[in-house]
Amino acid sequence: MSAIPQKATGEIHIRGGVRLQGKVKVQGSKNAALPILAATILAEGESCLKDCPKISDVYRMLRLLQSLGGHVRWEGEGVCVSTGSITTRDMPSDAITGMRSSLCLLGALLARCGSIVMEYPGGCVIGKRPIDLHLQALERMGVRFWQEGDKICGQAPEGLSGAVISLPFPSVGATENILLAAVTARGCTRIEGAAREPEVEALCRYLNACGARIEGVGASCLEIRGVRRLHGAAYRIPADRIVAGTYLYAALGTRGCVLLEQAPCRQMHAVIHMAERMGAVCHVTEEGLYVQSVGELVSPGLIRTGVYPGFPTDMQSVALAVCAVAAGETRIEERIFENRFRVAEPLRQMGADIRQDSPCSLWTQGGRCLRGERVKAAELRGGAALVVAGLMAEGETTVTGCEYIERGYENICKDLRELGARIYSV
Ligand code: UD1
Repeated sequence: MSAIPQKATGEIHIRGGVRLQGKVKVQGSKNAALPILAATILAEGESCLKDCPKISDVYRMLRLLQSLGGHVRWEGEGVCVSTGSITTRDMPSDAITGMRSSLCLLGALLARCGSIVMEYPGGCVIGKRPIDLHLQALERMGVRFWQEGDKICGQAPEGLSGAVISLPFPSVGATENILLAAVTARGCTRIEGAAREPEVEALCRYLNACGARIEGVGASCLEIRGVRRLHGAAYRIPADRIVAGTYLYAALGTRGCVLLEQAPCRQMHAVIHMAERMGAVCHVTEEGLYVQSVGELVSPGLIRTGVYPGFPTDMQSVALAVCAVAAGETRIEERIFENRFRVAEPLRQMGADIRQDSPCSLWTQGGRCLRGERVKAAELRGGAALVVAGLMAEGETTVTGCEYIERGYENICKDLRELGARIYSV
């Protein structure tokens, strides 16, 4: 296989009304893989990442690494990256602006090369996504930033040095950038108020496998002792808790019974708990997560997103789709991003009763029968929510804008077909 395949994007067709049944293996995590791929820039040598998901955001990141001088090859279910000679050059702008995770290159390149010039990173259009916390933290470590046109430029003339950084909000991206800058900085760095998301923990474990000295992994205070250099390492990307959660809610919404092999159950407490309140019976087994939808599908009343271990913002749209058919009224409060309700409109088109009362909250009167429609995905998780809605709907649903879904799901149609769904992409 060539290192970076071009995938055709098109439409997804779903004939709803089938109870999902059977088992499917959960892919590797997008939000763990992307910062780890950026981190390979720091490792002089080859890193092999098993279970790296074959999704368009990963291909974008690999293209960026290649443009910087890295070598990439796929080996079975994993990807091997060598970053022996890295230089900051003009990186492909579409890959930078196309995903928020390109932001991790900031910390990694400043650490490896001492300077950076890049466009402002993009990603899904879900509210304001400032980067002030990233820049302020890196400034404390010796970086000077300025802007040239639409580009951010940064330089650390004296190299990076450790600092005590207290984050006012446990930002996942900022924590990752500080870690990347700190592992080879002079002296010690302490991050207070660090994000505790499992993806941050995965990044720490990969960096430690490469020779970094990070203590407090998984906690909100991380201590990093800078080392001279890192070496490559073999590392398995953990399974994707959001993909597992999507299939869990799809099984719940279709009143199905499925086994999600290798689902990272330990990281899914809030998502599993919410599904249980709605009528799922879940069992954590050695193989993964076993889910059965029993009795009536009922509203959980309130879903409030939060930082880990709270209910993940990335699961909110999929949960909304299921709440639209569950008996009773559900209020959803989004506390991480404002304007993350773009999926409400296409869900209404399918028959959902959803009213938004502020940029951060809405409610849905459930018990609705959704009907198949032609709807458009406007962002990644909203797109997955429309697929789940299509599985629950009567008749045929066509989801367009599938390039968003491909950013995070390797092959959502194949996975759901394994569970018996009538779904295909064209
Ligand atoms: C967020 C999610 C992460 C998810 C990812 C992809 C949280 C806490 N983070 O990570 O789990 O996988 O989206 O959807 O759930 N902020 C600032 N200034 C900054 C950085 C962030 O004000 O410099 C604010 C954002 O506006 C937002 C919040 O902090 O309100 C979320 O931040 P952050 O965790 O940094 O977002 P991501 O890293 O994109």
